[in-house]
Amino acid sequence: MRQTTGGRLDGHVVLVTGAAGTLGRAISAAVTEGGGIAVTSDLAGREGMDFALDVTCEADWQRAMAEIAERHGRLDGLVNNAGIVLVGDVEATSLADWRRVMAVNADGVFLGCKSAMTLLARSLSPSIVNVSSVSGLVGGANLAAYNASKGAVRLLTKSVALAGARRSPQVRCNSVHPAFVAGDMVDGLAAAARDPDRARARMAADIPLGRLAEPAEIAEAVVWLLSPASAFMTGAEMVLDGGLVAR
Ligand SMILES: NC(=O)c1ccc[n+]([C@@H]2O[C@H](COP(=O)([O-])OP(=O)(O)OC[C@H]3O[C@@H](n4cnc5c(N)ncnc54)[C@H](O)[C@@H]3O)[C@@H](O)[C@H]2O)c1
Repeated sequence: MRQTTGGRLDGHVVLVTGAAGTLGRAISAAVTEGGGIAVTSDLAGREGMDFALDVTCEADWQRAMAEIAERHGRLDGLVNNAGIVLVGDVEATSLADWRRVMAVNADGVFLGCKSAMTLLARSLSPSIVNVSSVSGLVGGANLAAYNASKGAVRLLTKSVALAGARRSPQVRCNSVHPAFVAGDMVDGLAAAARDPDRARARMAADIPLGRLAEPAEIAEAVVWLLSPASAFMTGAEMVLDGGLVAR
């Protein structure tokens, strides 16, 4: 029933974290457009979500899994998308800020993979997509905590993929590594600069393709990784960066 082709997601139940944000909204819309059922979650108080899920809270994950099991009976896909960015070099980053970034970006993905495994194992083609970043591949002087957290997501993904390959059914797990995506996070980064317009122009100019990514461009790739069309891909890094790390 859920064996599909061409990147389609007919009937797939997919949980998206951070679904009220720029990429989360685009991913949820692409899942629905692909014929799947997007189960949307974000922090309490974000409007239009199926339920509240703070990714740093293990009890929230357990509650979410129980609710999805009751409503849908299984989970076919998990997109660990929730994340926060912090600008600061290693000296300027407080221990409290480091822990906050690691809690959301690294602990949150760990808890998601860990909590969802049992329910994912009820699917015919389970797939996890972890949203890392180009900042999980290359460093930036002023992104100490963000770099560390996104690097953790990159290698956790490989460990989960190897463990998932031993299960029956096999659970795939891949990471995506976008560069700057037009939306709230980039607006926040630009706003933190002395000259926001210049900062935004520099971000685009740094990218060989000369522009920021559109959220839908990242979402399409996530849907493909969720779908059986990518069945032989696991533990891999999909870099969606307009050529940024090619040089
Ligand atoms: N925007 C970019 O340029 C860019 C580039 C590369 C990677 N990413 C990654 O993509 C993901 C989505 O980013 P975005 O651009 O949509 O950012 P965004 O700020 O628009 O959305 C992030 C969402 O995560 C939610 N969130 C924050 N803390 C949470 C928590 N503890 N539990 C649950 N939800 C929480 C927020 O409420 C928000 O809705 C992040 O992991 C980010 O690091 C973004």
